[in-house]
Amino acid sequence: MGSKAGRAALLHAIAHIELNAIDLAADMIARFSFAPEIAENDRADFINNWSSVCDDEARHFLMLEERLQELGHSYGDFPAHNGLWEAAKSTAHDITARLAIAPLVLEARGLDVTPLMIKKLTQVGDMDSVKILEVIYEEEIGHVSIGAKWFHYVARIVEQTPKDLFHEQVEKHFKGRIKPPFNVQARTLAGLSENFYQPLVNLR
Ligand SMILES: [Fe+2]
Ligand SMILES: [Fe+2]
Repeated sequence: MGSKAGRAALLHAIAHIELNAIDLAADMIARFSFAPEIAENDRADFINNWSSVCDDEARHFLMLEERLQELGHSYGDFPAHNGLWEAAKSTAHDITARLAIAPLVLEARGLDVTPLMIKKLTQVGDMDSVKILEVIYEEEIGHVSIGAKWFHYVARIVEQTPKDLFHEQVEKHFKGRIKPPFNVQARTLAGLSENFYQPLVNLR
């Protein structure tokens, strides 16, 4: 983390996540705006919400790309894993599955890990990168919040208890582990209560 190359690799990994997040937000609009679960009267709100997420993700990517260039790198310089896009593919059939896994498992995980990255970058004095991660962190709380809003909406439509529906979807569609420590404060702020994720800790 102290070396320039180490920090560039970290920022590159986050940039890769942001790039996937742009596609995921756009895909949410293209694939699910006309899902039967979304009432016609609510469709504009759904599209507006995910458009604003898409706009944020694009800004996140560009901020990171600019910082990577300042460090002598650019996006594409390091290998990147395809986990996020695999999750997108495995939930492409169903808005409930997508909402459960993309914002409420994967983006929520971002809230858990980002404060530690901010702390480490602060320790090595890379305040330019810290400022970017602080913006991302704040805005990702909003993304999880939008995810939670629409997950609750869909749960109401299919007449299921939100937390039970969430547990069912995660068991079916998420192959990884839901692991602590959780950023309870940020998750709560985003509308994700502990009874959503705590019971899943020992799932696998
Ligand atoms: Fe982002
Ligand atoms: Fe996001």
